[in-house]
Amino acid sequence: GAIAGGTLIAGCFDTTTNDDASPDEREFPEPQYGDPDREYHLRATESEVMVATDEPYNGWTYNGEYPGPEIRAVEGERVRVTVENVLPEETTIHWHGMLLNGDNAMDGVPGVTQAAIEPGEEFVYEFDAEPAGTHWYHSHVGLKLDRELLGPLIIEERDPHIEYDTEATLILDEYLPTEPRVETSSGNGGGMGRMGGMGGGGFPDAPPAEGTLINGRLPEEPATIDVEEGDQIRLRLINAAAAATYEIGIDDHELTVTHTDGPAVEPVPVDTLEIGPGERYDVVVEARSPGTWPIRIWPVDESTSAGRALLDYEQSDGNVTEGAIGSRQLQLTDLNAIDSLDAYSGEPDRTIDFTLSGGMMGGDGDEWIIDGQAYPDADPIGIEEGEHVRFRMVNRSPIRHPMHLHGHHFAVGDALKDTVIVPGHMGEITIDFVAENPGAWFFHCHHLYHMETGMTREVLYE
Ligand code: C2O
Ligand code: CU
Repeated sequence: GAIAGGTLIAGCFDTTTNDDASPDEREFPEPQYGDPDREYHLRATESEVMVATDEPYNGWTYNGEYPGPEIRAVEGERVRVTVENVLPEETTIHWHGMLLNGDNAMDGVPGVTQAAIEPGEEFVYEFDAEPAGTHWYHSHVGLKLDRELLGPLIIEERDPHIEYDTEATLILDEYLPTEPRVETSSGNGGGMGRMGGMGGGGFPDAPPAEGTLINGRLPEEPATIDVEEGDQIRLRLINAAAAATYEIGIDDHELTVTHTDGPAVEPVPVDTLEIGPGERYDVVVEARSPGTWPIRIWPVDESTSAGRALLDYEQSDGNVTEGAIGSRQLQLTDLNAIDSLDAYSGEPDRTIDFTLSGGMMGGDGDEWIIDGQAYPDADPIGIEEGEHVRFRMVNRSPIRHPMHLHGHHFAVGDALKDTVIVPGHMGEITIDFVAENPGAWFFHCHHLYHMETGMTREVLYE
């Protein structure tokens, strides 16, 4: 019950503006405020974080909580979130999954859609709760998301397309109690970051995680989902990790995939699925096997240990049972959106080819690049309003890149998503979208250390 009433706060906000921007600085879109149905307050602050009883550390959180408080609204409502920055550094919030039609100013990308919120200041975000589904919010300043500045953003469907008795949100993340910092995988055969074995140059990477968290808990003291036999449980899965792709499965239970980054799909029964940074899947689990069962997440291609939560039946004695997990893994080609994809079919007005790779750029070291260019010294992608645009991406590096486009849905295969994994070793992914939301929109790898070291572009149109 995190639904706030419709309280309106009258009076002045100490909002940040770009009034003092020098004339050659970029102009940001003008924020539009309306009449919100829901109102939330997030205070970005340093506080103690507990991922297990004996593991407190100093983190950066919203309202002292990690994951941050749930923001929830019903499809179509107007949501206002006042963000107060009491961190020692600047911050912003991005509403990952919101289309922000006409609200480019609320996208939370510092230097692109707004000036960053300075310590001691506030910014008021407001947006329409569109589309429905499982989304999340996070800081979009540098590597700060790789602290604890993230939380669930749940938009309830007016027509969910599925029936379920209860729901729970599972936020997957790395345990990284130290200051986020870019490391270089040296290729010297030892002590490297996440790209061990790749060889070659010093590619920027995430520091090694110290474990895997579900809802901010280490596996020794897991989060628990209480169920009753016969329940249909909707699980909202959010990968909030900076770098890790996870595979998820539940002992002795099947997952029926029902939504991809928000939009509904024809239900697909599987045993496991892979979820990359920024992606969300909703699955329905039928509680037909009383006991206390592990919900497992394994980091894919990483040496970090697995995470777990528990599915705990009311009748159970609480002893964890180990069971089998089958081998049917979700494939992108299994997904069929329920909404029509007509707008994305046919020949595009504009096709853009991208290669994703690590580049030897000299200078400060190597970078992650899109078509030979590293952001911010990269050309914006210019498109025209109304166009059907196709991006064809080829991944020339050995590792996955979870690519995310702000402010739009795209069709990939027969699914509608906003983030998609481009597989390593010449993996190819084609996405189609319609340019119907003018503004400056980030397009980037959601592996934060790739985003930060160049694998980012701006998509621009008026
Ligand atoms: Cu969650 Cu720019 O992204
Ligand atoms: Cu990447």
